[in-house]
Amino acid sequence: MNENSSSNEAAAPPPVITIRQMSAHVGEEVTLEGWLYGKTGKGRLQFLQVRDGAGICQAVVFKGNVSAETFELARQLTQESSLRVTGVVKADTRAPGIPGGYELDASGLELVQLAAEYPIQPKEHGVEFLVKNRHLWIRSSRQWAVLRVRATVVRAIRDWLDSNGFLNVDTPILTPNAAEGTTTLFEIDFHGEPAYLAQTGQLYNEANILAFGKVYCFGPTFRAEKSKTRRHLQEFWMVEPEIAFCDLGGLMEIEEQFVSHIVQRCLEQNGEELALLERDTSYLERVTPSFPRIHYDEAVAIVNRAAAAGELVPGYDDKVPHIEWGADFGSPHETYIAAQFDKPVFVHHYPTQVKAFYMEPDPERPEVCRSVDLLAPEGYGEITGGSERMADVDKLVAGIEAHDLPMDAYDWYIDLRKYGSVVHSGFGLGLERTVAWICGTAHLREVIAFPRTLGSMRP
Ligand code: 4AD
Ligand code: MG
Repeated sequence: MNENSSSNEAAAPPPVITIRQMSAHVGEEVTLEGWLYGKTGKGRLQFLQVRDGAGICQAVVFKGNVSAETFELARQLTQESSLRVTGVVKADTRAPGIPGGYELDASGLELVQLAAEYPIQPKEHGVEFLVKNRHLWIRSSRQWAVLRVRATVVRAIRDWLDSNGFLNVDTPILTPNAAEGTTTLFEIDFHGEPAYLAQTGQLYNEANILAFGKVYCFGPTFRAEKSKTRRHLQEFWMVEPEIAFCDLGGLMEIEEQFVSHIVQRCLEQNGEELALLERDTSYLERVTPSFPRIHYDEAVAIVNRAAAAGELVPGYDDKVPHIEWGADFGSPHETYIAAQFDKPVFVHHYPTQVKAFYMEPDPERPEVCRSVDLLAPEGYGEITGGSERMADVDKLVAGIEAHDLPMDAYDWYIDLRKYGSVVHSGFGLGLERTVAWICGTAHLREVIAFPRTLGSMRP
C-alpha cells in the first residue's frame, strides 16, 4: 500500500483477535481485548479468566515470562477491569472457557480501567438484588448464555419465515383500538386523543395478507397484565405470521414446522450455551413435526380425570384443580396437559367466550371457535396462540357488538371483509416464553435484557 514504509519497518504489533478466533491462531502471538471475569493465583502464576463478549478464555501469566510490573498488575487486577492481554495461543483440550480448548500464554498485559469493587461477586446473590443490577447481571455467564440463545431464536424465526414465502411487514405500536381485550391496554395521550400501545399487530397483518399473501410482523408488544407470574411481562416480543387461504388445520401444520425449526436451530448453534445452562436437551431433540392435537373438550376431560384422582401437577406440590367446561386453563392445568405428551401439544377449539372477538366460531357448534394454543412442556405454558379469523362481514360486526367494542374504530378492519375476503389464519409466538422453555429458565425476566414486569421497570 505505502511503498515508503516497506524498507524500515518496525515489528508489527500482534493482531487483535476475538476468543472465537483463537483456534485459527495456535502458536501465534495475539492480543485479546476484554474484561476480567475471574482470577485465581498461586505463587508465580496468575490465571486470568478473560471474557470478550463472545467467549471466555484463560490467560496464564507466569512470573518468569513477564516483567515484574506486569506480574504485579495481574495480581492487582479487580473483577471486571477492562484490559488488553497479549500472548501466544496454546491448544490444550483441558483449557477451560467458552468455547474452551485454547488458552493464552501471556507475554504482556495492559490495563484499560481498573474496575471499582464489583457488586456481583462469584457467590449466590438474592434474585431481587440481581434484578436491580440487571445492567451488570447480563455479564454473568448464565445470563449471557440465555441472551445468546435468544438471538439465535430471533434469527431462526426470521430465516424460516423469510425462506418460506412470508413477507416481513411491520405494524404500528401506537394504535387507536383494542385487539386482545380491553383490560390489558396501556393508554397514552396521542395529542389529546386516547391511544394504546399495541397488544398485537394482528389486525394490521390481516390487511397486509390481502396485499402480500403471507406476512409476519415481529416486534415489542404491550400488555398491562395485572399478573406478577413468572410467565408474564408487561413488554414482550411477539412474532405474528398471518396467512391468506389458510384454515385451522393448515395453521397447525405451519406452526409445528416453524417451532421445530427454531428448537433444532438452537440445538445446532447453541450447544455450548445450553451446556453452560445445564439444560437437559433430550426433550428438545424430540421437537420435530408433527405435534399431537387435542380438542378443548378432551383437554378438559384429561384435567378433570386427574383432578378426580387427586393427581399432583408435575413439578409442584399442588393437586390438579378441577375445571368447569367453558373456562380458560390456568397454568397448573396447562402444565398437567402438556406433561401427558412427549412433544408440545396443540389444544384447539376453545370456548368462544374466553377468546378474542375475531375468532371464527365452529359452524356446527358456535360455543367453540377455531382457535389453537400450543402448550410447551415442563411448565412453560402457552407459547403460541392463534386462530382462523372471521371472514364474513356480518359475523364480524356481530362479534364486535357482542364484545362491546366501539364499531367506528374497526371500520377499516370490517372493510377487509368487503373486498375479496378469504379464509385466513395466523398466530403469535411469544419470544420470551419460547426462549425460557428452550433454555430451561424459570422466569421470563431472565430472557430479555431489560425486563418490564408488573411494578418494575428499572434499569
Ligand atoms: O395468545 P395471545 O394473546 O395472541 C395474540 O395476541 C394474537 N393476536 C396473536 C395472533 O394470532 N397473531 O399472545 C400470543 C403469545 C402467547 O401465546 C404467549 O406466548 C405470548 O404471546 N404472551 C406473552 N408473553 C409474555 N408476557 C405476556 N404478558 C404475554 N401474553 C402473551
Ligand atoms: Mg393466548
